[in-house]
Parts: sequence; C-alpha cells; structure tokens
Amino acid sequence: MEIKADDEGPLILVKQGAEARVYDSHFVGRRCIIKERFSKKYRHPTLDAKLTVKRLNAEARCLTKARQLGVSTPVLYAVDLSLHTLTFEYVEGPSVKDVFLEFGLNGVVEDRMTDIAKQIGDAIAKLHDGGVAHGDLTTSNMLIRCATNQLVLIDFGLSFTSSLPEDKAVDLYVLERALLSMHSSCGNVMDQILAAYRKSSKQWSTTFNKLAQVRQRGRKRTMIG
Ligand SMILES: Nc1ncnc2c1ncn2[C@@H]1O[C@H](COP(=O)(O)OP(=O)(O)OP(=O)(O)O)[C@@H](O)[C@H]1O
Ligand SMILES: [Mg+2]
Repeated sequence: MEIKADDEGPLILVKQGAEARVYDSHFVGRRCIIKERFSKKYRHPTLDAKLTVKRLNAEARCLTKARQLGVSTPVLYAVDLSLHTLTFEYVEGPSVKDVFLEFGLNGVVEDRMTDIAKQIGDAIAKLHDGGVAHGDLTTSNMLIRCATNQLVLIDFGLSFTSSLPEDKAVDLYVLERALLSMHSSCGNVMDQILAAYRKSSKQWSTTFNKLAQVRQRGRKRTMIG
C-alpha cells in the first residue's frame, strides 16, 4: 500500500530522506506532517517490514514519552502500521537552524539566542533525566513555535530509552559538533545550553564527566584522521 492524496487535500513532499519521506498534508481539517518510512530494497521483505514497524513504534513511543516528561513535541495524530506512517500536528514556525543562521543578520538579537539556548538545555535535561536519548540532536530537529516562541523537539526517529551517562553525553556531543560546524557565528551558545542543562538535570555531573571523555575520543579520532 502507498499513501495518496485524498479529499483532505494534496500531499506535498517536504523531505526525501534515506529512511523516510516527509509530507505536508491535512488530517481531519488540520494541517499536518506525515512521515512515511519506506522499505529498503536490499533487505529481506519480511525482515524489512518488521524493522520498519519496530522503528515506527519506537519513534511514536519516544515522542510520547518526551511529551509526558514535559518536553514540547508535536501532537501525534495517528500511527498507521500498514502504511508505515506517523501523522503529526504541523508546527508553525522556523527551525532553530534558520534562526541561528540569521543571528546577527536580520536583527536576531542576543536575547533571543539566550532564550532559545536555555529552552534547548532544559528540554534535553528533562529528556535525559526521564531516560530518553534523542539520538539526532541537530538544530534542524528543533522548531520554534511562532505563536508562543516555544521550543518544539521533533524527529525521534533515532531515539531510544537509556539511562546510561554515555548515551546522554553522546547526545550532547552530537549537538556540540553540529553547532560548531553550522553555527560558528553564534559564539558560546553551547555553553549557554550546557548551563541550562546543568541547572535542570539532577544527573548533570556524571553526564558532564562522560562528555569530557567523549570529546577526548573525538579529538583523538580527528588527529588520526
Ligand atoms: N511537526 C512538524 N511541523 C512542521 N514541520 C515539520 C514537522 N515535522 C517535521 N517537519 C519538517 O520536516 C523536516 C523533516 O522531518 P524529520 O526531521 O522528522 O525527518 P527526517 O530528518 O527525514 O527523519 P529521520 O532523521 O528519522 O530520517 C524537518 O526538518 C522539518 O522541517
Ligand atoms: Mg530530521
């Protein structure tokens, strides 16, 4: 089966990834995002279907858990295990990537950055203390809801439950690398994120110790090439 446009309106492709296609559409009269996981042709069909459903369930479960932990996420409208789709509320607003890229250009001021950094640190701390690792913390996977200026975390496609300091540290390290490469003009934004994380997370100390080790490993790898 494949997903089709219906009476609700057109299906507009937003992103074609390696594992999923993302569409802008409508669900019961509301604008929505439909994320469709598709099959990998090189995998055995039965195994492939099983893995796809497993990932789909994991994404839905981690997003729901994040919401329960007080992290703002899109509302999950529907899960369709035969079409391999998740349907989410459409969040109106720019990505943090877009806001940070405009920093200093179109009047994006220091205060706005500081506010967003604080929200990012708080959200990750809540997620981690609740035993969820996001798995893909980049500024494209964070949106700012226009109406409220609230940070919304999206894309739990690589998320998993874990209370290991190592997994939390790697989550932070991935974000740190993404900020360094993509947003070097944003100065000490990672420091501000970590300061907020430290205030919110009860386990910040063990996580930060691990983060220092993960950075060391990263550095060694860069030196070796
Ligand atoms: N709920 C939403 N509201 C508005 N835009 C969204 C929403 N969900 C996703 N998007 C947009 O679609 C893009 C792709 O979505 P998402 O990050 O979930 O998929 P992906 O990166 O392809 O997933 P994966 O990493 O699991 O392969 C996002 O970067 C964002 O621009
Ligand atoms: Mg993404």
